[in-house]
Amino acid sequence: MGKVANQIAGGNLSDRVLQCGGLSDELGELVCNFNRMASRLEANRDEMNVLHSRLEDKVRERTSALEIANRKLRESDRQKSEFLATISHELRTPLTSITAYAEILVDSGSIEPEKRARFLSIINTEAARMSRLITDLLSLERIENGMARWQASAFDLREVVKAAAAVLGPALAEKRMHLSFTMLEAQPVLADADRIQEVLTNLLGNALKFCRPNGHIGIALQHVSASGPRNASGDYVRIEVIDDGPGIPPEDRDQIFEKFYQGANTRGRHSGVGLGLAISREIILHHKGEIWLELPQTGGTVFCFTLPRHSTAIEFQSKVLEESYTPA
Ligand SMILES: Nc1ncnc2c1ncn2[C@@H]1O[C@H](COP(=O)(O)OP(=O)(O)OP(=O)(O)O)[C@@H](O)[C@H]1O
Ligand SMILES: [Mg+2]
Repeated sequence: MGKVANQIAGGNLSDRVLQCGGLSDELGELVCNFNRMASRLEANRDEMNVLHSRLEDKVRERTSALEIANRKLRESDRQKSEFLATISHELRTPLTSITAYAEILVDSGSIEPEKRARFLSIINTEAARMSRLITDLLSLERIENGMARWQASAFDLREVVKAAAAVLGPALAEKRMHLSFTMLEAQPVLADADRIQEVLTNLLGNALKFCRPNGHIGIALQHVSASGPRNASGDYVRIEVIDDGPGIPPEDRDQIFEKFYQGANTRGRHSGVGLGLAISREIILHHKGEIWLELPQTGGTVFCFTLPRHSTAIEFQSKVLEESYTPA
């Protein structure tokens, strides 16, 4: 018993005193109790070990969750700084022009009317640019934070496509662009018509902006059975906006829908700040559709998006609509 007691004191709890025959009742009971005590000690230690290892697992789990949260915080901090730097830059550029031309107008007593008109026009354009940037930013921020107000109604998507084309009509005519539609059947959707028109205006506006004069833009609507690259099955309307412009180089394709992203070939050469596609994506995602860039074999650019097709029958005039429209 002394030897086993020493083993236990040294941490080896598995040893037991052998019950030899011939022990007196009292001694036998003592041995029994001693062994029971050793067994309980051993069981307690095993239980402690299990708890300890569970605790360690928990600590490891929590540490790794904290590390991930920390990394996310650092990343969002970095994005915030980057975002602020971009916004400051985007606001500073037009503001510098506005201040410079306004100063000239204030300081120079007599200035030829033509020059004055030109300077005022620059101030006007740059102020409009700032105002658009702020409107776009606020709109994007409201959508991202779930604060935007949406007004859903059932309508034929063809009507909204035509409305977007009509808004851009004068600009298309000025650049002598050819616009054609392929919209054979009614495409009922339940959506915010103004927002969907905004997406179409953004895509058409890009095609108009980046294509050469006399270029072609096509809009095609189609009833399909999958949402797009995610391949969720269901009833969808697929909208394609096709142009024969310079296309989007492979290195830009992954980031084209990011806020403020502008392709290296086009950056600084056109109006805009790189928010149109980011806003369009948010609008389409809100409607449970998808928006993506296709890779046309023949050059140019093809943007596609889908919207869930409205299942309830709506009375549409089912006039056949396949026309070519040259705004001029
Ligand atoms: N149809 C197109 N053809 C060629 N490049 C395009 C086309 N559409 C978009 N891009 C590229 O994608 C970039 C991002 O487009 P997006 O509409 O988000 O911004 P933007 O047109 O530059 O500015 P904004 O829309 O804020 O006026 C563009 O700057 C351009 O580089
Ligand atoms: Mg744009």
